[in-house]
Amino acid sequence: MNVTVTPLKQGFGAEISGLDLSQPLTDDDRRAIYQAFLKHHLVVFHDQNLTPEHTVNAARILGDDLEPHLFKHFHHPDTPLIMVLSNRREDDGSPKGMADAGTFWHSDVSYKPNPAKATLLYAREIPDHGGDTLFCNLTAAYEAMPDDMKKRLEGLTAMHDYNHVPRDVFSKLKLTPPPPCPQPVVRTHPETGRKAIYINPGYTTHIEDMIEDESAALMKDIFRHCLSDRFRMRYKWRAGDVIAWDNAATMHSATTKNLDPSKHRTIWRATISGSSAF
Ligand code: SIN
Repeated sequence: MNVTVTPLKQGFGAEISGLDLSQPLTDDDRRAIYQAFLKHHLVVFHDQNLTPEHTVNAARILGDDLEPHLFKHFHHPDTPLIMVLSNRREDDGSPKGMADAGTFWHSDVSYKPNPAKATLLYAREIPDHGGDTLFCNLTAAYEAMPDDMKKRLEGLTAMHDYNHVPRDVFSKLKLTPPPPCPQPVVRTHPETGRKAIYINPGYTTHIEDMIEDESAALMKDIFRHCLSDRFRMRYKWRAGDVIAWDNAATMHSATTKNLDPSKHRTIWRATISGSSAF
């Protein structure tokens, strides 16, 4: 076994060293990566040099089924299983990738009945300043809640909508957002059995069966608790980094909306399919 797992100093997540993801991995290595992913919610590999095929293979360590992103315009030319996130432009001015995949807190694909299990990003180029990704540990946040709050949240459901934070990308790409769908407010992890908050400011519109003000006030309380410093971390990328996170245990936010356009950032992104959160 070649894998060393070192918890990140930032609070959660773990760095995995001793592996080249462009090479075939042993079953033991794959198991060690998977266990670290479940335990730490987020894993980081440095100094990787991957082709699209290697990136897809690395994502498959976390699940067999990968899904193409809805925004077909930003698929990698070699494979729809990779979406290109980039603020670079072609010579004719058209975007080379999606410049901002979400500068708001969200859990990937929570707006669909079968949300994404995990997301993997591979950093091709990273500016010297800006473009960090923020992460929030929703398992630790739930576990730290007082018992009366846990009791209050039991059995509640909330609606999620991709277009909750209105995004002009839908009209620009002439796409219709998927219909809103309900999710549990507290999600039990399908593999670890640990509970986590499963609403997010980016996609959750309201808690069901509550008057609007009550739902808004409860969501505000939950987000204030989850987004306190003790459950959050900021990841500063290096070119060659690969990060994968567990969408049933965390939420994240890009910061690319505020990135200086002269600072170039290009990342490949793969989405690992999941099952119903109920
Ligand atoms: C994402 O939200 O999937 C991308 C995060 C980032 O670009 O920092």
